[in-house]
Amino acid sequence: MAEELPSTDLITLTRHVLQDQLRLGAAATGDLTLLLTAIQVTSKFIATNVRKARLINLVGLAGETNIQGEEQKKLDILSNDIMVNALRASGKTSVLVSEELEDAIIIEEKNRGKYCVVFDPLDGSSNIDAGVNIGTIFGIYKVRDGSKGGIEDVLRPGSEMVAAGYTMYGSSANLVLSTGSGVNGYTLDAALGEFILTHPDIKIPPRGKIYSFNEGNSMYFHPPVTTYLKSIKYPAAPKTPYSARYIGSMVADVHRTLLYGGIFGYPDDKKSKNGKLRLLYEAFPMAFLTEQAGGIATTGTKRILDIVPTGIHERCPVFLGSKEDVQDLMKCYE
Ligand code: AHG
Ligand code: MN
Ligand code: MN
Ligand code: MN
Repeated sequence: MAEELPSTDLITLTRHVLQDQLRLGAAATGDLTLLLTAIQVTSKFIATNVRKARLINLVGLAGETNIQGEEQKKLDILSNDIMVNALRASGKTSVLVSEELEDAIIIEEKNRGKYCVVFDPLDGSSNIDAGVNIGTIFGIYKVRDGSKGGIEDVLRPGSEMVAAGYTMYGSSANLVLSTGSGVNGYTLDAALGEFILTHPDIKIPPRGKIYSFNEGNSMYFHPPVTTYLKSIKYPAAPKTPYSARYIGSMVADVHRTLLYGGIFGYPDDKKSKNGKLRLLYEAFPMAFLTEQAGGIATTGTKRILDIVPTGIHERCPVFLGSKEDVQDLMKCYE
């Protein structure tokens, strides 16, 4: 049998998104494509720093604490600065919200554009120094008609986002993106410096065999969560128990859930009234991707994308993943 030649027709992220935007016709101006180009550059820049971290003294703490009371790692701050600089310079944004910045940044008039970006510059900080997968999460809103760009433009339900995604820095850099018509995954070809379409139209399997919770918090969990976890660990025959996988980087845990199915959860509990994950730049983008891939994202009782945020660093309980698995969890809340 003749050996297959390598493809000479690569679908880059930019080509793919542009195609999608052209389908929208006159409504598309190319601005979203340009904004996504800026985001791709930040992901490549952060990826090279993550890779070199150990060699250029980028591991460890920066010595500051963020608004959530977390100690910031050097890479948290560096990634934040990379994103703020690139997004401001893109000329396509009006409002930026970052996990690492107490207040939203309102872009000065000369650089202002029609989009707002909410982001977690580096997710999974606790894993950095061990070389375990980490990532960047982002969500994009369009400023509302007539608005000059203010905090009101991001205090909106996640269902109003126009795009959301993440880049996972692992054995390769993977960018997973939805602009509202399905989910696609792209892998960075380091030699080309381009994200290439490698995972077209990602769909979460309707049921999985994996659960992903920090069970170290079990003594604080509320009864519905305890009941659910018991049901998948001690199922009635002929069912078999689920496998546990928990990395502690939301990006990596959600990435696996999108590809393999199952359920990821970070519940509210007796210690953390609203859970740990932040609504705007963690829960919303991941809920958006999950739904676009055919899964469910809920607080247990409510669709995450319907929540109307009241503050930019607000938290919320998160359960997401395969439709049937998340439905089983929701039954425990009824
Ligand atoms: P970040 O590193 O951006 O602060 O986010 C950490 C989050 C998230 O990545 C992960 O799912 C969760 O914290 C892990 O928390 P625990 O260590 O409490 O399990
Ligand atoms: Mn943090
Ligand atoms: Mn995070
Ligand atoms: Mn972070």
